[in-house]
Amino acid sequence: MKILFASTMSEPDVWMSMLRQALPDAQIIEWQDDAPPTGAEVAVAWIPPDQLFERETDLRVVFNMGAGVDALLKLPGLRDSTKIVRLEDAGMAVQMAEYALHALLRASRSFAHYEQLQQQKTWSPQPDIRRSQWPVGVLGMGKMGSSVASAIAALDYPVAGWSRSPREVPGVQSFHGSEQFSEFLGRTRVLINTLPLTPETHGVLNARNLGQLRPDAYLISMGRGEHLVEEDLISVLDQGHLKGATLDVFVQEPLPQDHPFWTDKRITITPHVAAASLPEETVEQIAGKIRQWQKGQEISGVVSRDQGY
Ligand code: GLV
Repeated sequence: MKILFASTMSEPDVWMSMLRQALPDAQIIEWQDDAPPTGAEVAVAWIPPDQLFERETDLRVVFNMGAGVDALLKLPGLRDSTKIVRLEDAGMAVQMAEYALHALLRASRSFAHYEQLQQQKTWSPQPDIRRSQWPVGVLGMGKMGSSVASAIAALDYPVAGWSRSPREVPGVQSFHGSEQFSEFLGRTRVLINTLPLTPETHGVLNARNLGQLRPDAYLISMGRGEHLVEEDLISVLDQGHLKGATLDVFVQEPLPQDHPFWTDKRITITPHVAAASLPEETVEQIAGKIRQWQKGQEISGVVSRDQGY
């Protein structure tokens, strides 16, 4: 079996050699620009090349090396019959929880403020935390969102989750559908975004929605840059309704040097690292699914084209 390793990442060798070890009978072919079609029916992809589907017309299944499949779904030439399979958890959910907790605690326990006070050699205990004043809302309650919400619930914050369809997670108040969206936003002070990027979720973090959060709100965004309307974030911060934002993802990555977010003290930036695809876990999961697919077995994580995730 030929497997095309379709990635524009800078150092694919480690991944390719791990795949070769996991699937010794397969021929793993590295994507090369301007090469003829490989005839592969299976691809493993991350940051995929633009010409992937237009050139590789035999592809029947593509395994994404990350959770978000938006980059694959927007490529030209993708046929309805090609299965797209996303990475499921593989060690990412716990990283998402860590990231969200860190950003939440930085705000709720005044850690960011204490960092500034230390610069001024100022000993100034801030008011004690009252958890009831920190209702957290998690947008998207798939594997990532549920793990984030559960971790926050375990620290006794009032936490709710919003998803398209109903999802019950112990200790987490559940909201769903567009009809419950405003109610969810209105009870939330710290909004954590773990949504997949789809046409419906594009621009969901806009002034109208952020303006519905409780006063002195915070945004933690770990989905995709396109969820956020960047100029709206600045205006909601300027109005003082939002106190701060922690952003891991951006419309343009790397974030351009002259982008105003870099120097805005209200915004904390990380370079799309909230949850990395871990090589061992990722290769093990994908190789296992490739074996199942070869045997004609059902595989989990197949993306619904209607839903876009
Ligand atoms: C990371 O952004 C992923 O989609 O896995």
